[in-house]
Amino acid sequence: MILVEDLTIVSQREIAPRIFEMVLQGEMVADMQVGQFVHLKVPDPSKLLRRPISISEIDYDKKEATIVYRVEREGTAILSKMVAGQTIDTMGPQGNGFDISVVDAGQKALLVGGGIGVPPLVETAKQLKAKGVEVVSVIGFANKDAVILEDKLRACGDVYVTTDDGSYGIKGYVSTVIDGFDWTPDAVYSCGAPGMLKYVDSKFENHPHAYVSMEARMACGMGACYACVVHVKGESDAKNLRVCEEGPVFPTGKVIV
Ligand SMILES: Cc1cc2nc3c(=O)[nH]c(=O)nc-3n(C[C@H](O)[C@H](O)[C@H](O)COP(=O)(O)OP(=O)(O)OC[C@H]3O[C@@H](n4cnc5c(N)ncnc54)[C@H](O)[C@@H]3O)c2cc1C
Ligand code: FES
Repeated sequence: MILVEDLTIVSQREIAPRIFEMVLQGEMVADMQVGQFVHLKVPDPSKLLRRPISISEIDYDKKEATIVYRVEREGTAILSKMVAGQTIDTMGPQGNGFDISVVDAGQKALLVGGGIGVPPLVETAKQLKAKGVEVVSVIGFANKDAVILEDKLRACGDVYVTTDDGSYGIKGYVSTVIDGFDWTPDAVYSCGAPGMLKYVDSKFENHPHAYVSMEARMACGMGACYACVVHVKGESDAKNLRVCEEGPVFPTGKVIV
């Protein structure tokens, strides 16, 4: 169920240049599932459209959810200046997240993340680990300064970090690591830049349990305006799916990434 609620900011800190971690508290947290997003109203009358941000971590006991976002332009810059105690008008939790019911204890899941696509993988990793699933994460960044959330993923399993320029971890892309694996994952969960998602989508196109989390420009964020459509593979352009409603997570091979 989608709710609108004023969530209270518990804390906010900068964890990397221009990248902020914000902890929010409210009743809506009880409904949150891995891979869903919240739609945040920027407290500025000139910013009519909400900003979609993935849910990175969920603490059901404390009714707290963590988001991690990069300051792009004005809206996210305003959010980054907000402090503990202030509230944010939030719509959510929204979208279809990662289905972790497809893997069981003793099986192995591959998590693939790039840049600011890594945040939703953290709660996914935690819940998979809690189920007894072995988690292997491969996360890629532009350079050393952009690396985030490595420690949180490391607490859940093996982590391989790649950087495009080789300034940290393995030089190259996530594909550099994944193409070298001599095992096949039982499930694949990915979120990141379009190039990375294209790689995952084609490599695991016929995998029964592989998923890509997509981004699109959004307006209503609740399925009404069709601003966020993606096209279905093998169908005419008229066949659309909405990232905010049917997504943001889709099985590989389903939509044009
Ligand atoms: C499902 C989903 C999950 C996301 N999760 C995260 C996350 O966890 N962390 C993070 O840093 N970013 C995330 N983004 C991207 C984030 O929404 C944009 O960076 C943000 O809206 C930019 O706002 P702005 O005001 O700074 O930029 P502006 O460019 O000024 O925004 C203008 C308008 O364009 C929209 N817009 C701009 N960039 C994007 C974008 N990439 N995707 C969708 N709408 C956009 C804004 O919402 C706003 O309505 C996510 C996007 C989607 C669709
Ligand atoms: S943003 Fe309106 S339908 Fe998705």
